[in-house]
Amino acid sequence: MSQVTEYSEKVMDHFSNPRNVGEIENASGVGTVGNAKCGDIMRMYLAIDENGIIQEAKFKTFGCGAAVATSSMATELVKGKTVQEALLVTNKAVMEALDGLPPIKVHCSLLAEEAIHAALWDYAQKNQITIEGLKPPVTDIDETEEFYQQQEE
Ligand code: FES
Repeated sequence: MSQVTEYSEKVMDHFSNPRNVGEIENASGVGTVGNAKCGDIMRMYLAIDENGIIQEAKFKTFGCGAAVATSSMATELVKGKTVQEALLVTNKAVMEALDGLPPIKVHCSLLAEEAIHAALWDYAQKNQITIEGLKPPVTDIDETEEFYQQQEE
């Protein structure tokens, strides 16, 4: 992928009109991650059916435009996939689907990948299953509950 220096049309589109914003009640898996570099936060909700297919994905991002655009694209990419296939939705895959991100914003796309992994980890824990190749999330943060509640008031 060639290096880009400004936001692509797709990034602008997903930033201005993000898909799948919100929450899923009784989600199969929820993951909350934070970006250590900037302090931005993303929460991902997945609804996974009994065949292990992701039926629905929603997110909330308190972060920059690139983080919003990558979360939006990530939710679009994981929908309809099996949990195993969803592991292949890496930050690189998300960036490619968005026609790239400026190098300074590449770290923002990691939030989306980590949030998917954290939500899948939560799903695996709840169902006592092992998802091959899935590692425990390093930045899963539960102490943001208060922060989220404040936002919702
Ligand atoms: Fe924080 Fe982009 S600057 S996620």
